[in-house]
Amino acid sequence: MYATIQTQLENGTFLITINRPDKMNALNKDVIQELGDAIDEVYNNPEIKTVLLTGAGEKAFVAGADISEFGSLDKQGGMDLARKGGDHVFNKIENSPKPIIAAVNGFALGGGCELAMACHFRIASENAKFGQPEVNLGLIPGYGGTQRLTQLIGKGKAMELVMTGDMVGAEEAKALGLVNHVYPLADLITKSKELLQKIQTKAPVAVAHAIALVNDAAKGNPDGFNNEIERFGACFETEDKVEGTTAFLEKRKPAFKGK
Ligand code: COA
Repeated sequence: MYATIQTQLENGTFLITINRPDKMNALNKDVIQELGDAIDEVYNNPEIKTVLLTGAGEKAFVAGADISEFGSLDKQGGMDLARKGGDHVFNKIENSPKPIIAAVNGFALGGGCELAMACHFRIASENAKFGQPEVNLGLIPGYGGTQRLTQLIGKGKAMELVMTGDMVGAEEAKALGLVNHVYPLADLITKSKELLQKIQTKAPVAVAHAIALVNDAAKGNPDGFNNEIERFGACFETEDKVEGTTAFLEKRKPAFKGK
């Protein structure tokens, strides 16, 4: 169905694998188009409960935007590339009401680091490497990297990484707050899926509200506190709130319906 990505739905988890391993899974136009189409599927298919995003092979998650497509671009072309990616992929991932996490299985550079950062959180293999090396090319991040890196690791370290283009390994990325967990490569997908299965036992509408509110905070939205009050109230109108509170009082596990 797709040419540059693979998708697989298992136990409610939609595994999206970017599949250009001979090019380090670099994001060319086709990948951006298909990735965005796959995220549309996530929004529209009720069978999809959670999403795991990874790269094919054992070397790279994504080693950046496809540099071979940059040659012909002028100012407007660069802006169009960045905007299309932002609208069609990165912002849709960030704003997805369903959890989307990145399983970073190797290099996550440039657009690859930005793609991982657009996800709700990141799990890395021990060989993962993160960086924003655009300054080596006379460029800067264009898929939200300056903004999301600063949100995630703070101004000083973000400044250093975007100025030097240096890479950080998985353990340093964890210490910086860029990734939540580090596992051996062989365990990465299994461990990530286990975490998503755990999230799938929680109330989906509440999880969706929580995602939106943490995003408010990360973006410094001044309405965040008020939005939390409204979304907290909205939870009281859900069947899942009745189920969750009743199940607690009846000392049984809740069976949430996402309503
Ligand atoms: N765009 C296009 N092609 C890319 C790419 C990218 N971002 N990253 C890697 N590739 C290609 C290489 O050109 C090479 O293609 P070839 O076999 O046809 O020559 C192939 O992927 C393998 O990469 P190679 O550089 O040979 O592997 P390596 O193990 O020596 O190095 C990296 C791996 C990731 C360190 C190196 O490929 C790299 O620095 N990539 C660019 C990272 C970058 O600047 N990203 C930001 C882009 S804005």
